[in-house]
Amino acid sequence: MNTLYISGGRPLEGVVHVQGAKNSVLPILAATILSGRTSVIHNCPPLTDVAASIAILRHLGCRVCWEGETVTVDSSTLDRCDIPETLMREMRSSVIFLGAILARTGEARIYPPGGCELGPRPIDLHLEALGRLGAEIDQRSGRLCCRSKKLRGCQISLTIPSVGATENAMLAACGARGRTTIYNAAREPEIWDLQQFLRGCGARVWGAGSSVITVEGAIPLDHAEHKVISDRICGATYLAACACAGGEIELRGVEWEQLLLICDLFRQAGCRVRGEGDRIFLSARGGLKGVSPVRTAPYPGFPTDAQPPVLAALCRGEGTTVFVETMFENRYRHTAELVRMGADIRVEGRVAVVCGRERLRGAPMTAPDLRGGAALVVAALGAEGESRITGLDHIDRGYARLTQDLTALGAQIYREDDRGEAKHYGNRTQAQTAGRPARPENL
Ligand code: UD1
Repeated sequence: MNTLYISGGRPLEGVVHVQGAKNSVLPILAATILSGRTSVIHNCPPLTDVAASIAILRHLGCRVCWEGETVTVDSSTLDRCDIPETLMREMRSSVIFLGAILARTGEARIYPPGGCELGPRPIDLHLEALGRLGAEIDQRSGRLCCRSKKLRGCQISLTIPSVGATENAMLAACGARGRTTIYNAAREPEIWDLQQFLRGCGARVWGAGSSVITVEGAIPLDHAEHKVISDRICGATYLAACACAGGEIELRGVEWEQLLLICDLFRQAGCRVRGEGDRIFLSARGGLKGVSPVRTAPYPGFPTDAQPPVLAALCRGEGTTVFVETMFENRYRHTAELVRMGADIRVEGRVAVVCGRERLRGAPMTAPDLRGGAALVVAALGAEGESRITGLDHIDRGYARLTQDLTALGAQIYREDDRGEAKHYGNRTQAQTAGRPARPENL
């Protein structure tokens, strides 16, 4: 069985380059089919979710080349409008193909999407938006068939600023005649990145980053080349790892403004943190302290995806922190595993109360979902003794170089699986070549 071994209690030191954003790459890969031309996407992290998107593109008839961190999609050969259930179940983002296929072909046949089990994850807002654009939706026998001879621009008001529904509406609107305005749109940076890709293809889209997005549809689209933004959740995870284990790290290639709340939180917890350009420095030399209540919310609020790794870090140290999870019902499954390490966490409904403990001890644990898995890694890095983490399929969906990056930072971590990776604790050769953090004077 794939297992991660972590011998905790060693400070992290060094520089880490943050991967491209998973939640940007996936909708952008879906968007490549709109133009019927060739798109080149750079900074695509080698994740199983990216592989799943590419499998869908190939199934649809696109020619896809994935070399290093660049994916080239030629969608001129697209000749299908259906996605089989097995491919749909691989991840939640498969549902974003719905709007793109509909815009390109006038018909889409899919199944309900998979993804992490964080509680009920309906797609009613996606379907409502597509319905407003003129799609007829038939949901019999577990399959979803959408048809529209002619999508028409319209006004869409989302009752929740859903990331996926905003993306689906934007993509379908690119194929609709006239102007579509999406109100109460999600404001996440990944939505802005999707807009930038679409603009690169020649689409007329504006407003992303605010809660009103406008699309002037039915414009012929061209080939495009695009570099995906960095992964703020991956960045938050590495900051949490350093806060928990102690040490001093520098993140490179990040947009620090997107991590403002996370930086503020770790500052409040006793770390020294500074963002500058595309870098964030975090120094954790003393113990951590509890912080004021953390309430997850849509961007620019505290990201629900960062809650598990941040909660894990705050299990170590002094004082109490209250978490309120407002986005997903079932997003504390990692806490049961953290308790096995000696963490003091009480969960009641959407609230988790974490009382920091000076020491956590290594334990065998299973990743319950993607970010919950990252939380276990964070806690294991700060714990005494060895932890064994299974359920790595979840973690592989979102972290491309976790073992290598953490080894480079000096962690004692290795992975045992059939991918031929080291079967012993590695050394810091990578960190030594990456150099030490360029510590700002006023850190
Ligand atoms: C995206 C992210 C995910 C992140 C989440 C919230 C991707 C691939 N995934 O997921 O990592 O945790 O945003 O920031 O980008 N909802 C409905 N009906 C719908 C759609 C959503 O009720 O039709 C609800 C959801 O149950 C949830 C809330 O809206 O409570 C927000 O979900 P949404 O923003 O849609 O999340 P995802 O796009 O699935």
